[in-house]
Amino acid sequence: MLSNPLIAAERKEERHHFMMKLLGGITLLLAIAVAFYIYIPLPRTISEPWKLMVLDATFRGVVMMGDVAHSLGLSHRVYVINSAIVNFESLVPITNQKIQIEDILFDGVHVRVYQPPGKDGKLRRSVMFIHGGGWALGAPKLGSYDSLCRQMAADLDAVVVTVDYRKAPDVHFPVQYDECVRAAKQFLRPEVLEKYSVDPERVAVCGDSAGGNLAAAVAQRTGTDNTTTVKFKLQVLVYPVLQALDFNTASYQQNHNVPILYRRLMARFWLEYLGADLDLVHSLIINNHTAQDQNLMSLIHSKLDWTTLLPKQLIKNYKPVFPVIGSPGILKDIPALLDARAAPLLAEDKVLRMVPRAYIMTGEHDVLRDDGMMYARRLELAGVSVTNEHYEDGFHGCVSFAFWPCYFSVGIRAVHNYITWLDEHL
Ligand SMILES: *[C@@H]1O[C@H](CO)[C@@H](O)[C@H](O)[C@H]1NC(C)=O
Ligand SMILES: *[C@@H]1O[C@H](CO)[C@@H](O)[C@H](O)[C@H]1NC(C)=O
Repeated sequence: MLSNPLIAAERKEERHHFMMKLLGGITLLLAIAVAFYIYIPLPRTISEPWKLMVLDATFRGVVMMGDVAHSLGLSHRVYVINSAIVNFESLVPITNQKIQIEDILFDGVHVRVYQPPGKDGKLRRSVMFIHGGGWALGAPKLGSYDSLCRQMAADLDAVVVTVDYRKAPDVHFPVQYDECVRAAKQFLRPEVLEKYSVDPERVAVCGDSAGGNLAAAVAQRTGTDNTTTVKFKLQVLVYPVLQALDFNTASYQQNHNVPILYRRLMARFWLEYLGADLDLVHSLIINNHTAQDQNLMSLIHSKLDWTTLLPKQLIKNYKPVFPVIGSPGILKDIPALLDARAAPLLAEDKVLRMVPRAYIMTGEHDVLRDDGMMYARRLELAGVSVTNEHYEDGFHGCVSFAFWPCYFSVGIRAVHNYITWLDEHL
């Protein structure tokens, strides 16, 4: 059969149109799928919501990859997430390149010391920094944490020591805590401070998130330790995690689904830190471990009663959630839930009276807002001077996203403000 060239050309054109339509349709579907995956409803007052959605989608993707690799038995989920973090952080350009670095051991613990250039024999101020990441994640010598330490060293003309403690799942509590305490004690030795020309009267400890937990615990330990003569002058706690007895504080209830630190993720970090069974996540987030039949109510009332420790406007209509009957045995299996070295909010008032002056940063859209707020209030009641800087548009982790390529405005403000506070008080 002879084909009519005109008809053939028409058919070709039709096929072409069809293909274009198909491609257009697929692209549209993909775009909808991507938007659907990225889009999450966010509170109106949060900082730069679309940017946060993209960040959150990326993070969720990485966590999901970790879960898949984990369930296939390829690798522990934490290693997968950490290697993604390391790969990403390696791309971040190094800032403040004039700062000199030295990677050494303090009493067997890996630390990096940042020193501003120029030695005129003058004693400098100093900050010991403990990074966050749920006691499991984070690369202190790379990317955002490296940039943050360099910025502190440059802006404050201070010696900054960052602690590269070992992490879960390789080690569990109390190893992370012990390593930070050992590094701190070693650094506070007069001969070590002298080696780095640090003024012993002007040393602060600082940490974010799980690093804020470790910094608060280190401050309690060194504050009450009568074998060290040099003490920290200040502590800076950036959205610290301080307790695991109540996963239904007003902020946990309000923000349980706000990125990037979802309540279930925080509960998982706790279980991993304390070396416990991750299947307990659901029991924890409904407070089954601290149900009324566990005889903990007096402890909870004296240490973490947010209905009295928080300002009224933050409590809103939230009510405490302690089931009548819970899961007996969780506290017996995980005694560290009641250990103030793991949960510094559980410390006695007599310990709190001995800790240094504090700066505590909290964010409205953070499950850990009330951990920080309750600690601020308890320190104040114990007679410690506290500055609680609260960010109405703050979300958990914002300080780590103040750098390339994210540049969240609330993160940049938060970093600037706490460094300014250190500059004025250290
Ligand atoms: C030092 O601390 C220990 C244990 O905390 C305590 O038993 C001891 O009495 C303290 N010593 C002084 C001189 O305060
Ligand atoms: C919480 O405790 C109740 C009472 O013991 C139990 O029936 C329930 O299964 C527990 N829930 C979880 C998730 O552990």
